[in-house]
Amino acid sequence: MLKGKKILLGVTGGIAIYKVLDLISKLKKLEAQVDIIMTESATKMIAPITFQTMARSKVHTKLFESSDNYNVEHISLAQSCDIVLIAPATANIIAKIANGIADDLLSTTLLATKKPIILAHAMNSNMLDNPATKRNIDILLQRGHYFIETGTGFLACNHYGNGRMAEPNDIIDYLDCFLTKKDLDGKNIIITAGPTIERIDPVRYISNDSSGKMGYSIAKMARNRGANVILISGPTYLSQINGIETIHIETADELFEAIDDNFEDADCLIMAAAPADFKVKNRKDKKIKKTEIPELELVENKDILSYFGNIKGSKKIIGFAAETDNLKKNAKEKLHKKNLDYIIANDISKPGAGFNVDTNIASIISDSYTEDLPIMSKFDLADKILDLLKY
Ligand code: PMT
Repeated sequence: MLKGKKILLGVTGGIAIYKVLDLISKLKKLEAQVDIIMTESATKMIAPITFQTMARSKVHTKLFESSDNYNVEHISLAQSCDIVLIAPATANIIAKIANGIADDLLSTTLLATKKPIILAHAMNSNMLDNPATKRNIDILLQRGHYFIETGTGFLACNHYGNGRMAEPNDIIDYLDCFLTKKDLDGKNIIITAGPTIERIDPVRYISNDSSGKMGYSIAKMARNRGANVILISGPTYLSQINGIETIHIETADELFEAIDDNFEDADCLIMAAAPADFKVKNRKDKKIKKTEIPELELVENKDILSYFGNIKGSKKIIGFAAETDNLKKNAKEKLHKKNLDYIIANDISKPGAGFNVDTNIASIISDSYTEDLPIMSKFDLADKILDLLKY
């Protein structure tokens, strides 16, 4: 979503400035265009040349510097961007914007722009709690500006508290979400992700290779597109997604219960999870000694999708089919057996598809049509799958 977007980045003099170089590097990798204005204090902390090199564009610092073109610099910067991001945003710049002060290039540009202004603020927790700062932040929120939540941790003043600037990845995630069209606004979507684990004893279990990447990509994209997402996740190493209610489960039975608790209010269920098909009937409560090799008795888990497919009413249900052979034939059978609206068939034996990779190769199959998709990131595939909910 950030590809080709023009971001005007205002950099002010806070110690969190060191994180902004990493932020710019990440924005450039995502092919965003970054124009930079630095305040005088910021230039005293890190030289503009460093930012210029990272952003591959001129860094603007002075209101009255002579320019090679005839545009009034603060007006052209204010007009030509898609969004303005201020990172780090100090208490001082927040106070200036709140009070309409325009005494340098950044504050003047901010007064001149009609583009969305997003602030990644950072300061000592006493400054953040100061009634003057609180009032200024309230004023800016009421005016329709946006703040990216600060984090809690060790601050530059050797003090533990709130006031750390959001991490570059969280800022990127925020911008990505901000810039995505909200065409699924108001839709309630349950998305399942990851494996389930079926315990043999307290330390051993049966599971599979699902990393959760497919389900988490759908959840993040659905959030970006404005949906209310409930993510039901088996055990994964993935980080929690901001702004999404996540229910953590272990077993297929718990997965079923979590869906059941939320199904009534849902408009759609997307099952990217890989629930184990069997559970251990003779599971032990105590760790099995290695001298007592157990005979495992397996019983079938409930077919979760079939259950919800049969009571779906007007809700849309999208399943996945993980196959190693007869991809489309097997997927179509699952589509009908489980009474699904769509099934996303992935041949998990192909390199770049299925478990534990960042890409997938899938076919979208419904009763009436099939679309074969090329290899793409799981995030792009998520976008395609969510398009199915628009109709
Ligand atoms: O998590 P990743 O590493 O990113 O990998 C992604 C993925 C390969 C797990 C994903 O793309 C995928 O294919 N998910 C479905 C895996 C699976 O269980 O496929 P299946 O063909 O065995 O099951 C068909 C459908 O029934 C699936 O939607 C599954 O969630 C569902 N199911 C399966 C078993 C069960 N007891 N109840 C179910 O509802």
